[in-house]
Amino acid sequence: MSDLKNEISRRRTFAIISHPDAGKTTLTEKFLLYGGAINLAGSVKGRKAAKHAVSDWMQIEKERGISVTSSVMQFEYDDMCINILDTPGHQDFSEDTYRTLMAADSAVMVIDGSKGVEAQTIKLFKVCVMRKIPIFTFINKMDREANDPFELIDEIETVLGIRTCPINWPIGSGKAFKGVYDRQSGIISRFIQGDNGHRTEAVETGLDDTGLDELLSPPLHEKLLEDIELLDGASDEFDLERVQGGELSPVFFGSALTNFGVETFLKHFLKMTTTPLPRSSDAGIINPFDEDFSAFVFKIQANMNKAHRDRIAFMRICSGRFDASNEVYHVQGGRKIKLTQPQQMMAQERKHVEEAYAGDIIGVFDPGIFAIGDTVCSPKKKFAYEGIPTFAPEHFARIRQVDTMKRKQFIKGIEQIALEGAVQIFQEYNTGMEEIIAGVVGVLQFDVLKFRLENEYGVDIRMEQLPYEHIRWIKNDGTDVSSLSVTSDTKRIKDLKGRPLLLFTHPWSIKTVLERNEGLELSEFGT
Ligand code: G4P
Repeated sequence: MSDLKNEISRRRTFAIISHPDAGKTTLTEKFLLYGGAINLAGSVKGRKAAKHAVSDWMQIEKERGISVTSSVMQFEYDDMCINILDTPGHQDFSEDTYRTLMAADSAVMVIDGSKGVEAQTIKLFKVCVMRKIPIFTFINKMDREANDPFELIDEIETVLGIRTCPINWPIGSGKAFKGVYDRQSGIISRFIQGDNGHRTEAVETGLDDTGLDELLSPPLHEKLLEDIELLDGASDEFDLERVQGGELSPVFFGSALTNFGVETFLKHFLKMTTTPLPRSSDAGIINPFDEDFSAFVFKIQANMNKAHRDRIAFMRICSGRFDASNEVYHVQGGRKIKLTQPQQMMAQERKHVEEAYAGDIIGVFDPGIFAIGDTVCSPKKKFAYEGIPTFAPEHFARIRQVDTMKRKQFIKGIEQIALEGAVQIFQEYNTGMEEIIAGVVGVLQFDVLKFRLENEYGVDIRMEQLPYEHIRWIKNDGTDVSSLSVTSDTKRIKDLKGRPLLLFTHPWSIKTVLERNEGLELSEFGT
C-alpha cells in the first residue's frame, strides 16, 4: 500500500456528543489515557475543583463549568490515528456543534444511564441523522442506579428514531452492578468495586463458568439469561453496512469514571467506524484517497491564546496529503496562498505540523481571509465543497459600548466575534456602529460576547435583550423598507452588508406582513 493510502486508511475522525454532564469529558479523557496522549494521575473526579478537563480551554468555560467551544484532539491507538472533535455540551452552543459535526465521519453519543435521552442529545442527533452520520452509543454511569436497559434502548429507538444493536449488556446497575455481558464473545466482564469505591477490575468469565454463581445471585443469573434470550429474539442483528449508513446504532454499556468498558468500547468502535469519507463538491464527489489535497474550514476562533492575539481557522482535510511547504488555492478568495503556522491540537497543547492527511483537522493562522465553509485545495484541481448551513438567530439584543473612546476596539471585537459565526450583527437604520443589534442561536452566547469583549478587547458594553424571535431577510431587490406595511411588533433593520431585514416577535406577524405587501419575498437566511 502506498504511504498516502496507508496513512489515510488508519485515520478515524469522530465527534463526541452528549447532554451536559452525561460524561463526555470523562470518556474523552479515558480515550486519551489509552492513547498515551495524556497521563493525568488518578481519575477526573474532583477535577472541576482542582484541574480542568484538558479539552476545556476558555476561561468562561472554566468559570461556569461548561464547554462553550469545541476542541480537537489527536492521538494514536492500536496503530490508528484518531481525531476526536469535542463538542460543546451546552445547548446554547448548538450552532458551533452543528458545524463540528460537519467535520466528523461518525459520532459517539454519550447517554447518562439514569437520565436516558435528554433534550440536547435529541437536537444533536437530528443533525447526525440529517447527515447520515454513523452513531455509536455509550450508555454511561452504570456504576450508579440506572434505568432499565430495555427502557433505555427503547427510548433511543422511539425518541431518536434509530434502530439499536446492543453489543454488550449490563448486569444490574449502581451498587448491584456486576459487569457486562459481551453478546459476540459470550464473555462477562466483571465489575469489582474496591473499598475506596473507585477501584475496578474486569475479569472475564464465561456464561457457563462455575464461578458465575459466586458473582451473580440465582435471580440475577436467571434475569441475565432471560434478558439475553429476549435480546437475541427482539433486537436488530449487527449489520456493519447499516451501522455505517447511520441506520443502526451499536450500543455499549459502561462507566467512564471507573474506566469500566471504555477500552472495549474503543476497540469495537474503531473496528466499526469508517475511514475518512468522500464528500460532495461542485465538481462531484471527492475521494479522500485522491492525491490532491483539499480541505474546508468549519470553525474560526480568535484569541485562543491571549498572549498571541491570534486567529485560527480549523480545517478538515478531505482528500490527499497536506504539505506545509506547498501553496494551496483558496477557492472563495480566488488566489493561491500558503497556509501558515499549521498546527494540530492535543488538548491545550498545540504542535506544529509539516504534514497531515485526509481525516485530520489542522488549525492554520488566519490573517482574516477565511470564512466558515471555505474550501482550500490543490491549485491543480479547483473545486468548492458544499457549504455549511447556518441557523437563523432566535434571540436578539441591543448592544451599546459604555466608553465611547473605545469605539475602534468595540467595532474590531464585534466584527471578529461575528466572523467566527457565534453571533450575527445587525444595525438599525438610524444609528451608527457604536450601537448594534446582535442575534444569537442560544442566549448564553450573549454572555460569551460580553465576556470576550471585556476580556479580549477591553470594552464594556450595555446589553438590552429585545423581544424578537424571528428573522427574515427581504429578498426583493431595491425594496424601500420604510414603505412596507408592517405590524406594530415588527422591527426594520439591516445586516452589515446593508441588506434589509425584518424582526418579528410572533410568527403570525410574518404572515400578516406577507399578506399586506403583495409580492414581498422573505427568507430565513441571508445567503
Ligand atoms: P460532560 O463532559 O458530559 O458534561 O460530563 P463530565 O465528564 O464532566 O461528567 C459529569 C459528571 O459525571 C462528573 O461529576 C463526572 O465525574 C461524573 N461521571 C462521569 N462518568 C461517570 C461514571 O461513569 N460514573 C459516575 N458515577 N459518574 C460519572 P461532577 O460531580 O460533576 O464532577 P467531579 O466533581 O466529580 O469532577
